[in-house]
Amino acid sequence: MQPNSLQPKRILLIVGGGIAAYKVLDLCRLIRRKGLLVRAVMTKAAGEFVTPLSLGSVTGDKVYGELFSLTDEAEMGHIELSRDADLVVVAPATANLLAKMASGLADDLATTLLLATDKKVLAAPAMNLRMWAHPATRRNVAQLTADGVTFIGPTAGSMACGEFGVGRLAEPPAILVAIETLLAGDTAIPLPEGAWADPADSGLRPLSGRHVLVTSGPTHEPIDPVRYIANRSSGKQGHAIAAAAAAAGASVTLVTGPVALADPYGVTAIHVETAREMQDAVARAMPCDIFIGAAAVADWRSGDVAGQKLKKSAGAVSELTLVENPDILAGVAQAKTGRPALVVGFAAETTDVIAHAEAKLARKGCDLIVANDVSTSGESPGGVMGQATNTVHLIDHTGIESWPTMGKEAIAERLVARLAAMLAQ
Ligand SMILES: Cc1cc2nc3c(=O)[nH]c(=O)nc-3n(C[C@H](O)[C@H](O)[C@H](O)COP(=O)(O)O)c2cc1C
Repeated sequence: MQPNSLQPKRILLIVGGGIAAYKVLDLCRLIRRKGLLVRAVMTKAAGEFVTPLSLGSVTGDKVYGELFSLTDEAEMGHIELSRDADLVVVAPATANLLAKMASGLADDLATTLLLATDKKVLAAPAMNLRMWAHPATRRNVAQLTADGVTFIGPTAGSMACGEFGVGRLAEPPAILVAIETLLAGDTAIPLPEGAWADPADSGLRPLSGRHVLVTSGPTHEPIDPVRYIANRSSGKQGHAIAAAAAAAGASVTLVTGPVALADPYGVTAIHVETAREMQDAVARAMPCDIFIGAAAVADWRSGDVAGQKLKKSAGAVSELTLVENPDILAGVAQAKTGRPALVVGFAAETTDVIAHAEAKLARKGCDLIVANDVSTSGESPGGVMGQATNTVHLIDHTGIESWPTMGKEAIAERLVARLAAMLAQ
């Protein structure tokens, strides 16, 4: 059966067994909203992540899975199933599916259809960053690209396994754009944000050859051997920026205070405790092209750190004398020699966010301030600190740009894309 040009176009969606399989439910909804038809085929492993019932509900069609099903063969043979589509989309394309596709294996319905199809194939990979970076996957992607398969993503960000790096499924709206582009006969797929994805294409990535220095997390300022002054910074935003910069091809040094996060993949992480240690580590890691001060550096430290644990004595409260910590951001921004081409500061404010950020831009001498409201009115005490999302305003010498609330990875990707463009100018 050949597609009829008057009929709505049909997508054959092959769903692989990855943690991102749930996102194809949203993709199906978006595809149908465009007036396209979508029919799903699941691998056996996909059934561990989404059910045929939920896929059938969002596609409005039968969901196929078995190669040796007499009923399916009688209704529609497996060859017809692949030929009846205008485009084949594999999402999530697992490392296993890519390997099978690259070597022409056909040991289940999904891979048999992929081998039997005469239509364009769009693959949206999603996997752990080390699986994506593995030489075997690199070989398979290169082979499939040579075979004419088009790729969308993966993008950089945090993984279900808690690591940061390249391997996330491109977001469903970006996959939809790729689908529409291929259906229109074009092959130049717009890159989704954060999709400087292929470790092999380093020459094409916007921060290749650049050194990006990022600070992240809080600092801990000791009072005595067991007590310290701290703040609620989790490091999620700074770590996501470091990961996004690495995904963009930069060589990244991350100077991090104490956080409960894994070091992002592909960055050089330096672990510190105090503001003065952070200042030293930053000085040693210089020079850099871009400095991003995302750490919540304590403004003050105890002026008199006790050598022994301070003892409680009835009726007497110890007094704490605070002294000012070094201003790491201002030090980098106002350096007489070796100032980075771009210096970016973060302003965490609880009141008058924009006004304080504008003042900080001028006072510190940086090129850009990313301001966020960390007031406690949000989801938790500490507002955005520790949360997965953030709402930021970008303030530079030309004005203010407010971004919608987004995941911290999405903010990181967008910020890094912006900085790469600024650096290129
Ligand atoms: C919890 C869990 C999550 C997984 N997520 C992924 C993933 O995101 N990407 C991937 O390539 N494989 C992932 N795997 C491994 C695949 O499920 C496995 O390789 C499977 O054989 C893939 O089958 P398929 O390619 O036929 O769908 C995951 C496995 C488990 C147990």
